[in-house]
Amino acid sequence: MADDKIKIQEDTRKMLVKWKTKRGSLIMALHEIQGAFGYVPWDAMEVVSEEMKIPMAQIYSVLTFYNHFKLTAPGKVVISVCDGTACHIKGGESVIHAFEKELGVPAGFTTPDGLFYIQVVRCLGCCGLAPVVVVNGKTYGRVTTLEVPQIIAEWRQTMAAEG
Ligand code: FES
Repeated sequence: MADDKIKIQEDTRKMLVKWKTKRGSLIMALHEIQGAFGYVPWDAMEVVSEEMKIPMAQIYSVLTFYNHFKLTAPGKVVISVCDGTACHIKGGESVIHAFEKELGVPAGFTTPDGLFYIQVVRCLGCCGLAPVVVVNGKTYGRVTTLEVPQIIAEWRQTMAAEG
């Protein structure tokens, strides 16, 4: 959808503000993009290329060299749960387990209905809000395990409303 493209490109542009002037920061930038979207969308790659003045072919070869990067959307709702140091200390791991239990799939997998995908990420860049969860670009800070069913219900509703 055109709207998705615009949103992806706007979000990517914001993320790149801190990376584009730093030499050798392509991998960090791609890592942050994947943290936000659950994969590295083509539309985001175009913005990276433009903002960081790096040819698309070079970005693509980095993405395919590291098998950690994904190039396709893993599920309609991508739940990125941070387990970086700050989030880990504040209970990130139990938040991951709560999502796994609630959705019935381990991190790294999509629910059988194709709706939710859980991924564990290393740092989402807002450690002050630890533990942090980002769902399709929306940030939830200081998440408790008790809030997990609520977050899932909210996204079920959102997706049902979008049809
Ligand atoms: S460690 Fe979780 S946001 Fe930084």
